[in-house]
Amino acid sequence: MKNILVIGSEGQLGHEIKNRSNSLQQARFSFTTFETLDVTNFDLLKNTIAKQPYDYIINCTAYTAVDKAESEAELARKINTEAIRVIGETAAQTQAKVIHVSTDYVFDGTNYRPYIEEDKTAPNTVYGQTKLEGEQLLLQSHSKSIILRTSWLYSSHGNNFVKTMIRLGKERDALNVIYDQVGSPTYAGDLAQAILHIIASDLSGSQAFQPGIYHYSNEGVASWYDFTLAIHQAMGISCQIHPIESKDYPTPAPRPHYSVLNKAKIKKIYQLQIPYWKDSLTKCLAELKS
Ligand SMILES: NC(=O)c1ccc[n+]([C@@H]2O[C@H](COP(=O)([O-])OP(=O)(O)OC[C@H]3O[C@@H](n4cnc5c(N)ncnc54)[C@H](OP(=O)(O)O)[C@@H]3O)[C@@H](O)[C@H]2O)c1
Repeated sequence: MKNILVIGSEGQLGHEIKNRSNSLQQARFSFTTFETLDVTNFDLLKNTIAKQPYDYIINCTAYTAVDKAESEAELARKINTEAIRVIGETAAQTQAKVIHVSTDYVFDGTNYRPYIEEDKTAPNTVYGQTKLEGEQLLLQSHSKSIILRTSWLYSSHGNNFVKTMIRLGKERDALNVIYDQVGSPTYAGDLAQAILHIIASDLSGSQAFQPGIYHYSNEGVASWYDFTLAIHQAMGISCQIHPIESKDYPTPAPRPHYSVLNKAKIKKIYQLQIPYWKDSLTKCLAELKS
């Protein structure tokens, strides 16, 4: 039996991993939450990781409030960077393999083709910068680490764009939504499945754990405007959606205009079939409706 520690199991991704953990029968899972393990308590973080001989550690914690991070850089750095170094250093000592999650915001969004893992990073925000530094420290501190960069994450659990658009669509007759930012919506359930697939492949020997950075999002591309229309159509919401430009919706943290991720590497190495974003949206909305 292998031991897996999931840190931050109450977030969108952590929750979806917990929901699917039964699918990995050769493993025994331990889950921590913000209440049981605040990752800024570095001593507790170290002790928790070292307490048991974990085979895998999945880190789902993050400071994800992108705009607020601009004025809370110190806290964002503690969670997104320093805690990741502690996870890496401790896991290196205990020989636990680490799977960590990062973001499309490590790029500046000026590309004209989907970003590959080796593309130049140039974050424009405190969130993106602290996530990038977390990536670098993890790779430096622990050779058995996988980093999955993802984008536009949503699920039926927690707060996210999908749930906000459903709420606003029901409350209002019309909404302005940005159409000049393009990316790939990603259902956290699919990302959770991909993470468990990586571990299952390592355990079965079908594909050994291959450290490094990988890109993962759902297939296909959309703007926030397209994404909103799809959500409203599926939910039968008849709110008028007006496409607007980013300059008409200024935010403290600028968003990348283009953050589509190229997923060829993870698909090839891990033989993954990734669902189309609209199909996964349908799955998530069905969960929300039930
Ligand atoms: N959400 C997106 O659109 C998006 C896009 C690209 C990449 N990502 C990345 O994907 C990963 C998963 O994101 P997500 O959407 O699942 O995030 P999330 O829902 O915000 O979950 C993050 C979890 O971390 C917890 N947390 C925050 N500070 C903590 C601390 N000091 N100690 C322990 N736990 C703490 C949060 O607790 P509270 O909720 O109580 O604060 C929350 O449960 C993250 O690495 C994120 O950077 C997300």
